[in-house]
Amino acid sequence: SGNAQNDAVPDSLVVVSNREPYSHEQDDDGEIQVQSAAGGLTSALDPVMQSRGGTWVAWGSGDADMAVADEGIVEVPPSDPAYDLKRVPLSDAAVQGYYYGYANQVLWPLCHEDTGRIWAEPAYWEQYRAVNEQFAEAVDTVADAGQPVWFQDYHLALAPRLVRERRPDATLLQFWHIPWPAPSVFRHCPHSDALLDGLLACDIIGFHTAGYAEQFLHCVDSAFPAATVDTDSGTVTRDGDRTRAVANPLGIDVGGVRDRARATDVASIRDTVLGGSRSDTSIRLALGVERLDYSKGIPERIEALAHLWDRRPDLRGDFTYVQKASRTREGIAAYRRYRADVVDAIERVNDRFGTDDWQPIVYTEANLDNETLAGLYRAAEVAVVTPHRDGMNLVAHEYPVACTDGDGALVLSELAGAATHLDGALTVNPHDIEAIADAIERALELDEAETSDRLSRLQHSVETLDSAEWVARQFSAGQSL
Ligand code: G6P
Repeated sequence: SGNAQNDAVPDSLVVVSNREPYSHEQDDDGEIQVQSAAGGLTSALDPVMQSRGGTWVAWGSGDADMAVADEGIVEVPPSDPAYDLKRVPLSDAAVQGYYYGYANQVLWPLCHEDTGRIWAEPAYWEQYRAVNEQFAEAVDTVADAGQPVWFQDYHLALAPRLVRERRPDATLLQFWHIPWPAPSVFRHCPHSDALLDGLLACDIIGFHTAGYAEQFLHCVDSAFPAATVDTDSGTVTRDGDRTRAVANPLGIDVGGVRDRARATDVASIRDTVLGGSRSDTSIRLALGVERLDYSKGIPERIEALAHLWDRRPDLRGDFTYVQKASRTREGIAAYRRYRADVVDAIERVNDRFGTDDWQPIVYTEANLDNETLAGLYRAAEVAVVTPHRDGMNLVAHEYPVACTDGDGALVLSELAGAATHLDGALTVNPHDIEAIADAIERALELDEAETSDRLSRLQHSVETLDSAEWVARQFSAGQSL
């Protein structure tokens, strides 16, 4: 029940994450511009921080001077200050080793089970440790006695242990937003024991699915034979630590997405997006929205679309795929190559099938605000979400909620966390190009009854995971211990 769960949320807390909930950048006139971050983490945690208060500790990635003035502490949101943001300044070497190195060239491919991409230079691990130490020190400076500390994601696996050493009695939590791999994959990591040891300093570790939590427990079991692992309760007892691993799926702010979708002007968004191409309402749209990350399965999807236009000439001129892409982690060669590959593949398909008045794939890297994105969702008859592996994937949640006109179908990878929780999607193996083509084709041909049945099942399962309850669920997992 909502109330009992809300009692579980502490009066104030400390949240620790790599990314800031509000970025602070200096503009050309030297003025500091504050902007709310767009991601799922901010949308879930910022409301709670605003109502409960406390401190959010994060990498002060924008303006370096600000991160050192006033001990790096600013009050946010700027319009109506409700909690402190402590900005941890990182040196260039630290960012290279910790963020571009260990977090995104070791842990990211490891947890997405893409071990061929793991690249573990010694400096990466050193910097990862040093930055986790820096975060732990910042936490020790700001946390009041009795304030729980909640670490977010794979950037901060060691910090819990480092805080525990300073605060033996603190309540420490972690939420791991990406998949947790099987033991046979986790073994590829040269620092697997140290990472587990860091995390086991927490009282509670949350994952998006029960499967990830189980795999975590199996990894602990095989790494530490002396630990007691109870898979029924999800509890590990080891060296005086007791840790509970729980499934606590993170969803979206359902009401917010729905309101934005309803308020949007779909026709004008179609015009803007289809600009160069025909923009009349007769063109049917499918949509993909992602960061240009090699875990997202975009090339397979493009290949699948080519198959579809190849075998269904009647869909040419009639059906367009929109790829909204965001550049990401470009300090890493694999990400730069991935972007180039995606752009090439799209160009080839457009050259092959495109005509004077029809462009098969519309590609945009435009920075769309949430309102425009909601409109794009609403305009699309089909959303295609086909990652090789994905912790959850919130596009799969946002799309059905934004389909406020009652039509829309979701093609979803069975290897995304969202597939465990969402009912009503057309699920596919993300490597099965023929199956992706079939699923898109089927999505375009569903009759009205099935479309509406699938969509309402999707909407219902997304509502169940509304982000408003997520924080309470994480804390109440500790109460039943
Ligand atoms: C994933 C991670 C987040 C991360 C986001 C964007 O969703 O789980 O922790 O913030 O990607 O990536 P970036 O490297 O830009 O923060």
